[in-house]
Amino acid sequence: MPTTRTNATGAIITGWGSALPERIVTNDDLAATLDTTDEWITTRTGIRERRIGGSTTELSVASARRALEIAGRSPEDIDALVLATTTPDRLVPASSAGVQAQLGLSCGAFDINAACSGFVYALVTGHGLIALGAERVLVIGTDTLSRITDWDDRGTAPLFADGSAAVVLESAANGGQLLGWDLDADGSAEHFLYAELGGFIQMDGKEVFRRAVRIMVDSAQKSLSHAGISADDLALVVPHQANIRIIEAACERLGVTMDRTAITIDRTGNTSSASIPLALAEALDQGRVRYGDHILLVGFGAGMTAASAVLRWGGQDHD
Ligand code: UT7
Repeated sequence: MPTTRTNATGAIITGWGSALPERIVTNDDLAATLDTTDEWITTRTGIRERRIGGSTTELSVASARRALEIAGRSPEDIDALVLATTTPDRLVPASSAGVQAQLGLSCGAFDINAACSGFVYALVTGHGLIALGAERVLVIGTDTLSRITDWDDRGTAPLFADGSAAVVLESAANGGQLLGWDLDADGSAEHFLYAELGGFIQMDGKEVFRRAVRIMVDSAQKSLSHAGISADDLALVVPHQANIRIIEAACERLGVTMDRTAITIDRTGNTSSASIPLALAEALDQGRVRYGDHILLVGFGAGMTAASAVLRWGGQDHD
């Protein structure tokens, strides 16, 4: 059972940052070329607008610079870079290579593709590297889904968008923040959501919706159980931003009221690997998280992956 080993070195997040493309595409903009309406998109998904543009490398560099600045760290302080992305700029090398070079890091760098669960996969991996002796790990979640979205398909075009967010993870003597985690996948369901090389995203929206609620709740409950806390103890849930109705249904089943969730979907759409860290960074910028708070990150995605993590902000022994 994946519990956090108490004799391993823990970690805490010391910096965070976001980067969104400048170009805003509203629902009305989409309705100008697609058989859809602002009313349909808003009521069925919760999305009002999204940001489109940039490359995975550019957005990652921008969000990472901000995270390093808040952490007060220089590129030479970083021991490893983990970039979660489903939309690398090229097949080879990994996009983390370009990000590493542009940031001026001198450390190992690699990509993780776990679709919309990617950031939580990368965050857990970052904690693992710190447990093995790394001091500081830069964890980024970035996607430029607009490049693999068919803008003539009203079933997917209103949903997907571009963005990036990053965190700096540092080793902590106080037991670290990660109380429980869960990484899951069901590859037999991959045909419900996929894109062939060079192709566009194909999705059975209804089936993904049905599974999403179930697997998010299952994963969250596993992490809460490993952490030894209940949903009542959570100050904030940071869910994957795919559809507000999925978030509402999952939170209702978990027994978490919507005022305890971080929501950005109305302005960002579904940014896949960037969605959870973007919502986390916004909540942190808004001062919604206090030391000692319990936070649940939970996502699902193609693969079909699911991932969650329970954090105690500031570390286990933080007052
Ligand atoms: O990161 C994971 C990625 N994917 C997801 O999380 C997607 C999960 N699924 C969903 O979010 C939803 O299933 C969608 C938003 C994709 C679709 O919402 P829905 O409530 O499941 O709609 P539906 O597919 O059942 O379609 C209802 C109606 C249909 O018309 P009829 O058959 O009732 O006449 C669709 O043809 O809405 C129609 N429709 C649209 N109408 C206007 C489908 N897309 C649109 C559209 N604008 N964009």
